[in-house]
This record gives sequence, structure tokens and C-alpha cells, in this order.
Amino acid sequence: MENFLNRKVLLGVSGGIAAYKAAMLTRLLVKAGCEVQVVMTPSAHDFVTPLTLSTLSRRPVLTELFARDGTGAWTDHVHLARWADVLLIAPATANTLGKMAMGLCDNLLLACWLSLPERTPVYVAPAMDLEMWRDGASRSNLDKLTARGVRAIGPESGELASGLTGLGRMSEPEHIVQALREALVGGSKLSGMRMLITAGGTQEAIDPVRFIGNRSSGKMGFALAEEAALRGARVELVTGPTNLRTERPGISRTDVVSAAEMAAACKALAPSADAVVMTAAVADYRPARASDGKLKKKDAVLRIDLEPTEDILAWMGANKPQAQRLVGFALETDDELTNALGKLERKNLDLLVLNSLRDAGAGFGTDTNKVTLLAPGKDPSALPLMSKSETARAILDRLEESL
Ligand code: CTP
Repeated sequence: MENFLNRKVLLGVSGGIAAYKAAMLTRLLVKAGCEVQVVMTPSAHDFVTPLTLSTLSRRPVLTELFARDGTGAWTDHVHLARWADVLLIAPATANTLGKMAMGLCDNLLLACWLSLPERTPVYVAPAMDLEMWRDGASRSNLDKLTARGVRAIGPESGELASGLTGLGRMSEPEHIVQALREALVGGSKLSGMRMLITAGGTQEAIDPVRFIGNRSSGKMGFALAEEAALRGARVELVTGPTNLRTERPGISRTDVVSAAEMAAACKALAPSADAVVMTAAVADYRPARASDGKLKKKDAVLRIDLEPTEDILAWMGANKPQAQRLVGFALETDDELTNALGKLERKNLDLLVLNSLRDAGAGFGTDTNKVTLLAPGKDPSALPLMSKSETARAILDRLEESL
């Protein structure tokens, strides 16, 4: 399966002749699924035009830390650095690598590098002439950086712009993208997979202003969608009404309101999905007839007839393509394990995530969850109380094991 690289890439372009390859690199990153924000050093402008890179990245290119037009405007390098999933500097010239090693900060790219959160991976694709690469200062600068966790891609050996032949050529854009893919998502079996993930609760109309809903916040489904996308999956996220947002590239979002809308969206997307994770709290009943006008208050008891909605997960289990993995959620308050195991079998699931409302910190609206994972023929595995992102990681680890 083709690996997908869906990361927010801060692409630093410094001023060497290989900067002309930054255009192709930008294009390939965008094509692979990345969002690319280009930051050029001032001297990179001598080699490649910002217009080329802004057109290909679909974002204005940034260069200056401070506007020089007297407006006092400045670029928020801290925010920019926090936005990025990965900093890639290509080409990384001897000058830029030297400044990075020394902690100098005389341009926006260096300010971003210094402001980068510790967890953010940094890749550099050095590019310089043979002797510059061989030079002791270049060596020790790169050694300093790699000792701090910076990873170098290349350089490669070959014909150099000077006419000399040897080490110093920037790696080809294809190789850089491939190296990033392998390093960032290559290890995951979800990489390149199509996943359908549902989130949130549905709302069933009583009249134009009222509905029957539930307390689902959507946080678990969004955490799963983000984690799956980070592992390289192409995620279709179908969500009920929620204020949550996601900026992760690789997630395509469909907003729905009712169980019927969720069913329609899911039925359209499920057949082409390699895995489906049904996190949404879908209403089991809806008003048999939603009133066209707003119901007026009366003194008598109001009765609303409810009719069952379609069980989407059961439909998916019954129509599951052979290689598809189907993950359901269950919320039980009594006879938890017995009920959950029944659901696992009845709905033809490969994995069931059992929520228990009895556990403090688990369930609706919280940022934490405590779940038990059930798979056919396996002992239940009870996970400790964890953040919803950690729970998402554990669920997807388990899904990967089954692939
Ligand atoms: N689900 C669904 N369609 C529905 C109701 C539920 O697809 N109309 C899915 C949920 O997304 C979840 C799973 O079914 O993955 C279990 O939901 P839950 O409410 O725990 O159980 P139900 O199947 O509705 O059964 P019960 O009410 O008997 O517990």
C-alpha cells in the first residue's frame, strides 16, 4: 500500500544552489498529503523565487522575523514552531548548519529552530560543495546537531554545481520524502490504509428547535482520527455536532446531525474502508414524527412516540468486506463483559472497546478514558485510566496487531 505522509511540515530553505530543488520537494510533500509552510532564509531568495514556493505550498512564504516597513509587524516564530509536526531544512547550507549548531538567531528560520518544542523531529538535507562538506567546522557542526537528535538525510555523492564530483549534493527530493515517510509513518501498518472513524453523538429532532441527544463530546473519536492520521492512514471522519476541530492533514471530515444522516454517510464510505471504527454514540431511538412547527407548551403531559433508528454498526458487520477490520464501542452499566461479548459476536466485530460508566474519569466529556478491549478468542484486556489520546494509541496498537 502506498505510504501516506500527512504531516505539517515547516520547510526551511536556505541559500545554496540546491534551493532550486526545494520547488520539487514542496510539490512532492504536498502530493504526499503534507501541509507545507515554507520559511526561506534571506539568501535563499537569490536562488529560488518565493512565488514559486508559495504557489506550490499554497501558503505565503515567510522570511522576515520583523517587517521592515515601519508597521512593527512580526512573525510569531513560537506559534509557527509549535504548529509544525516536523522541521525539514532542505537545502541546509554550511552557514545555516553552523548557525544552528551555535544557537545564532539572525533570521526567521533560525528563530523557528530555536523555538521548536523538544518532541518535534528535525531533519536536515545538507548541500554544499565537496571541500565545504569535508571541512572540519562543517563536520563538527553537524556532529553537534546530530548529537542533539537532528537527523541528516544525505548528502549524496555525485556531480556538484562547481563541476567537482564527490559528497555534498543534496539528496534528491524523492529520496528526502521517502526518508521522511519511512522515519515518520513507515513502521505503522495503518500507513496508507483507508479508515472510517465516527465520532460524537447524534441529535434526533423533536421539532425545529428541540432534539433528543446524548452526552458524547466526540473527543474519543477525534483522538482516534488524529492518531490514525499520524500513523499515515487516510481518515474519513464522520461526526455528529461538536465544537471540536482538527487541523491534522489526512483527515477528511463529514458533519452529520441525525442517526439517519450518519447511517447514509457511513454506508457510502464503509465499502472502500480497510478499517472502520465506530466511536459515535448513535441514538437508538428517534421521534417517530418530528413536528414541522415548534411545539407549544400545554398543561397536559406530552408524549413523544419514539421509533428505533438503524443500527449502523450491525449493518457494517453484516456487510463487511472480507479484509475489513471492524471496531465497535460499547457502553454498558450492568453485566458489562457478558453484554459486550454478546455485542462482539452479534455485530461481527474484530474488536470491541468497552466503556464503563462506573469508572471515575471514564466516559463522556472527560479528557481521560478507561476501557477494556475485547477481541474474538482473546482474553479481555483492561487498560488503565489514560488520556483519550493514549487510549486511542492503545486501541490502534491493538488494531495493528490484528492486521
Ligand atoms: N451503534 C450504531 N448504530 C446505532 C446504535 C449504536 O452503529 N443506532 C454503534 C455505536 O457506534 C457503538 C456500538 O454500536 O459502536 C454500541 O453502542 P451501544 O449504545 O453501546 O450499544 P447498542 O448496540 O445500542 O446496544 P444496547 O443499547 O443494547 O446496549
